[in-house]
Amino acid sequence: MENTAPAKKIMLSGIQPSGDLHLGNYLGAIKNWVERTEEFDNYYFMADMHTITVRQTPADLRRRTLQQLAQYIACGLDPQKNTLFIQSHVHEHAELGWILQCYTMYGELSRMTQFKDKSQKHSENINAGLFTYPSLMAADILLYQADYVPVGEDQKQHCELTRDIAIRFNNIYGNVFKVPEPYIQKVGARIMSLGNPSSKMSKSDPNGCVFLLEKPDDIMRKFKKAVTDSDTENCVRFAPSEKPGVANLMGIYSSITGKSYEEIENEFAGKGYGAFKPAVGEAVVETLRPIQEETARILADKAYLENVYKEGAEKASYLARKTLRKVYKKVGFVER
Ligand code: TYM
Repeated sequence: MENTAPAKKIMLSGIQPSGDLHLGNYLGAIKNWVERTEEFDNYYFMADMHTITVRQTPADLRRRTLQQLAQYIACGLDPQKNTLFIQSHVHEHAELGWILQCYTMYGELSRMTQFKDKSQKHSENINAGLFTYPSLMAADILLYQADYVPVGEDQKQHCELTRDIAIRFNNIYGNVFKVPEPYIQKVGARIMSLGNPSSKMSKSDPNGCVFLLEKPDDIMRKFKKAVTDSDTENCVRFAPSEKPGVANLMGIYSSITGKSYEEIENEFAGKGYGAFKPAVGEAVVETLRPIQEETARILADKAYLENVYKEGAEKASYLARKTLRKVYKKVGFVER
């Protein structure tokens, strides 16, 4: 019988293997990917080309890239249902990245908050790649004609620039690119540092950051020490501007357990932070336990991992090639 099911929409995203994956990456991005597996045609990659905008130790980058792939799978991304690949294995990213740099404006790139933050943090190495990074990210997305890009809140600006680049290109050359939409969930899109709830959780602040492969005791210690608030109310109540630390912990707990803020308030009514903080820690430890075990098991099987990323690159290249061929023709390159 003929297959008449409509084609699934395409979902695509990536994470830089510039550090170990943390709870922000998991709750802001990966968990969302896993939950949407059946609904979409999925492409997820290790954004290794992006990481060299900041100096990396080569052996660490290689190890973290493979570890990140093992973690994607351990978090629930089935390689049979998701195309998992390493960005640098599909050379079309670099090629379309160059072309899109010629359709991205200097002013646009100068407004990117990630560029401003990173050029402050790495003032000794403000290289051209750090500046044009969003054009490469646009290429990552547009190569696959992605409909949705599931990311955390901090990547929204880059996704919006991708849309602007796609629209600009399409206005000149006709309908070449699908104009993608960011796919950002309500809870978990911006996990804050446990030590400083006014800045986002990030690997550059290891005390406020919970890594997916961290030992349970260390995770519990970080949650017990988490900053709550300076008032004396000692009451679990969702009030982000008054109590950002408590709101952040409630967001983490809600994202993991699926409970609403009201349910959480009721659960901890009269119990105070002394009971709440370890309860959030335990929920995180129990979520991460099977992921940690699975990661160790997968990492031990090098042949399996190699098979996954090779097949992934082959499938990804098929789509990427198609788009790049069209782009080359449109901009006027002679066919070879
Ligand atoms: P990266 O590697 O910084 O982060 C990966 C994903 O994790 C999300 N995230 C967070 N979500 C919630 N709370 C946090 N504290 C938190 N920290 C990180 C990010 O929003 C992101 O979804 N430029 C991208 C990588 C990239 C990409 C792409 C993404 C390259 N090409 C194409 C999508 C599509 C980046 O640096 O994310």
